[in-house]
This record gives sequence, structure tokens and C-alpha cells, in this order.
Amino acid sequence: MKDLIVIGIESSCDETSCAIVKNGREVLSNIISSQIDIHKKFGGVVPEVASRKHVEVISNVVKEAIEKANISFEDIDLIAATYGPGLVGALLVGLSYAKGLALSLNKPFVGVNHIEGHIAANYIAHKELEPPYLCLIVSGGHTHLVLVKDYTEFEVLGRTRDDAAGEAYDKVARALGLGYPGGPLIDALAKEGDEYAVDFPKAYLEDESFDFSFSGLKSAVLNYLNKMQMTGKEIKREDVAASFQRSVVEILTEKAILAAKKYKMNTICLAGGVAANSKLRDTLEKECKKEGINFYYPPISLCTDNAAMIASAGYFNYKAGLVSNLGLNAYPSLKI
Ligand code: KG4
Ligand code: ZN
Repeated sequence: MKDLIVIGIESSCDETSCAIVKNGREVLSNIISSQIDIHKKFGGVVPEVASRKHVEVISNVVKEAIEKANISFEDIDLIAATYGPGLVGALLVGLSYAKGLALSLNKPFVGVNHIEGHIAANYIAHKELEPPYLCLIVSGGHTHLVLVKDYTEFEVLGRTRDDAAGEAYDKVARALGLGYPGGPLIDALAKEGDEYAVDFPKAYLEDESFDFSFSGLKSAVLNYLNKMQMTGKEIKREDVAASFQRSVVEILTEKAILAAKKYKMNTICLAGGVAANSKLRDTLEKECKKEGINFYYPPISLCTDNAAMIASAGYFNYKAGLVSNLGLNAYPSLKI
């Protein structure tokens, strides 16, 4: 069968990325231009600044991806780009560029759901992985427990009702004065702390619910820090980081294992920026082993936003007969 070369473009938040992926699973190049240093000053992503920066760099990022993959534009068979969810101005930059490319090359175009892209990162990392399986997607904007029935068929079992897991990490890190993005900083600091030092709450919600809630936990951490400050007590930041992280990781792990058992899935995959978390990986790995469940996660470079995962998801959409027309708009709150 002829190889299918896909160019993927991602610009939903603060990373401008372009990748060339062969047959959905083989990465020929994956260029990521991060804006983190720019947004750091503001303690979070500033949407207007993000859009402008995407416009500035996208042409060079695409050029670099083509050169690194050692192909020419004529070799491209399919163009894939994120069309939601994300920041509308940021999304429009990558999406418009991709549609322009499809028009000028006269090649098919497919819009990709960013969350489905995160899931597809696992197909790149694990060549043998095939649906069905259970996927826990945890990122700065999303926390979803999804039954992946087929490459393009998903059933959402649960989602966060308020903050995403990564958002909670970022807000707690800010309160601890650690900087942005907070996830990796808390991950590192927690290694030096006692995770049982503070007993922060875990929200289980109703019986058998696979939904999540992290805003109560976030408020509990902020209240704890305020109380300690007001009473002049010493705050051990590493203990707070470790205790907060234990609550997040335990609730994610418990619900993922329960869902796998209920839906008789013998494989769990992790995806999204928070999938880079060492404690979450280790805990899920251990619990899956105990239950005889296979456990997969992508390398860190494929956990956070990148275009290779978008190209991979685009490939599977195309194979399933899903293509988009060039009138496709950006959808900031697109659901999976
Ligand atoms: O998937 P992603 O790059 O962007 C979204 O689609 O949201 O995820 C970014 C999120 C941020 O909240 C960041 O703090 C978190 O992933 N993150 C981590 C770690 N690395 C990144 N959270 C916990 N531990 C980490 N090691
Ligand atoms: Zn993402």
C-alpha cells in the first residue's frame, strides 16, 4: 500500500507546531515553537499575545518541519489541523494556514479535535496499540475519561465539572510562588516533600460517577496557605506540593481503574500535558500491574501540545472517510 504522508498543524494555545507523520504512526519531523517564556511574565497565557506570536512564527515552523522530514510540499498527501477546542484567535492561525496549504496543493484537508489528538499521541509511541481501550486525558484545559471504541469513535464516561487537573496544578503552583507552567515545577518539588503532611480533600462526587472536580481541592490548598500565613506558621512548600499531588493522582488513578473494570477494558492509556507527571505515571503503572491491565503513555515530548499527534489523528480520520471542507471554522469549545 502507498505511504500516506500527513502534515499536521497545531496552534490551539501557546505552542505553534508543525509535524510530518507517515502512515499515522511514524514521525518524520515534529517542530514545536513554545511561547512559554513570553507568557511566563503574566503568570498564564494571554490570548491576544498568543495569536500574534503564532502569526509571526508559523511559516518558519512549517518550513522547518518540511526540511527536517526531508520532503517537499509535493510529497504531502493530507493536511490536518486542530480546529478546537482552544483559544479562538490562536486556533484560527493554524487552521487558516492549513486550509491555504490544502487549497494551493490541491490536497484533502481534515480538521482535528485537539483532545482526540492527545489520545492519538499513544499510537505514535506504541505501534502495536489498537482500540478498544480506556483513555485518561489530563491537560491544562481538559480532564476526560474516555472509552476509545475505535480510532474515530469515542464515548466520554466522565469529565471535570470545574477546573482541569493541569489548571489546578498551575493555580496551586502560582499560590506557592513557583512560576508557570506549574505542573512540572510541582512534580519536581513534590519529590522532596511528605505527601501525607497535609490531608487535602478528594472529590469523589456521586457513587459510580466518573466525573471529576478539582476546584474544592484548589481552594483547600489556598485556604491552608492563607491560614498558615495568618498564624505566622512556617509553610513547607514541598509538603504542600506533595500532598496536593497525592490527592490529584489518587482520584485520577482510582476512577480510571474503576472505569476499566466496569467497562471490561484491559488497556488504559494516559494522554495530555499532565500525563508527563511522574507520580501519576508511577501510580497508574503500579495499580494497573496489580489488576492485570496493560498501561501505555507517550513520552513527555508527545504529552504536551505538538502537531505529530494532530497529524496522527488526522490520518485515522481520513482512513475512516472523514474529511473536512475548506469552510471549516474554529470551535473554541469543541467537545469530543
Ligand atoms: O496538553 P497541554 O500541553 O495543553 C493543553 O492542552 O492544556 O497541557 C499543559 C498542562 C499545564 O497545565 C501543565 O502545568 C501540565 O500540563 N503539565 C504537568 C506536567 N507537565 C505539564 N502537570 C503535572 N506534572 C507535569 N510533569
Ligand atoms: Zn493540549
